[in-house]
Amino acid sequence: MNNFKTVPKRSRAIRVGRALMTLLLGMTCVAHAEQRGLVPADMPESYRTECGSCHVMLPPDLLQMGPWGRIMNQLESHYGVDARIEPNTREEIESFLARHAGRAPSLVAKRSGDPLRLTETLYFHRRHGKVRPLFQNPQVASKVNCTACHVQADPGHFYGELTTLSREFLQKSNPVR
Ligand code: HEC
Ligand code: HEC
Repeated sequence: MNNFKTVPKRSRAIRVGRALMTLLLGMTCVAHAEQRGLVPADMPESYRTECGSCHVMLPPDLLQMGPWGRIMNQLESHYGVDARIEPNTREEIESFLARHAGRAPSLVAKRSGDPLRLTETLYFHRRHGKVRPLFQNPQVASKVNCTACHVQADPGHFYGELTTLSREFLQKSNPVR
């Protein structure tokens, strides 16, 4: 008899638990979708040594796999420099990029821009609209100079703290912030 009472109770608890789980999962997915621009923890060390020496390690989730693949296939003429690497290392980096590449339609370069630049995607343009004039500042010089504005660009975090240069510019151009 007792069993009959506990069964429905338990299943109710399970249902509530499941609903909560679904809610939590949904929430983390939303948070994840918003927080783009983090170099993931399973990054192979070669990504730092081979792709983080001339510029910061660029977050894989800021570009779709199509353009990443093309970038990796033409490292011998990489934006004017030779960035060729050993085939094994290239494969390791390529599979890392494939695991984390972005999927959103805003993560392919604009038709008018360089198809192989994550700084030319619709997503990047949207997120950087407010600081566009700063890209011309001699202290920044290039959009790829992420560290000029993102304090933690070096370890690979792109949301969060902005540099004084960037913060002051935002305050001046948009004093309500
Ligand atoms: C020898 C130096 C060097 C190495 C090594 C190197 N890069 Fe680059 N990379 C550059 C230069 C120079 C640019 C152009 C920067 C600019 O426009 O200011 C660039 C630009 C890029 C861009 C485009 C940035 C944008 O504007 O969106 C991507 C993506 C990129 N590199 C990925 C990689 C990856 C992945 C690796 C490792 C396989 C790598 N790079 C290794 C020098 C290098
Ligand atoms: C001239 C300054 C500047 C440069 C250079 C710059 N950023 Fe940003 N970035 C910003 C500002 C300002 C924001 C918007 C912050 C906000 O809205 O609060 C931003 C936002 C972002 C975001 C969205 C983060 C979020 O909070 O949603 C990502 C991702 C990002 N930048 C990546 C990059 C990468 C990668 C580079 C280099 C290839 C780069 N940025 C270069 C100033 C810069």
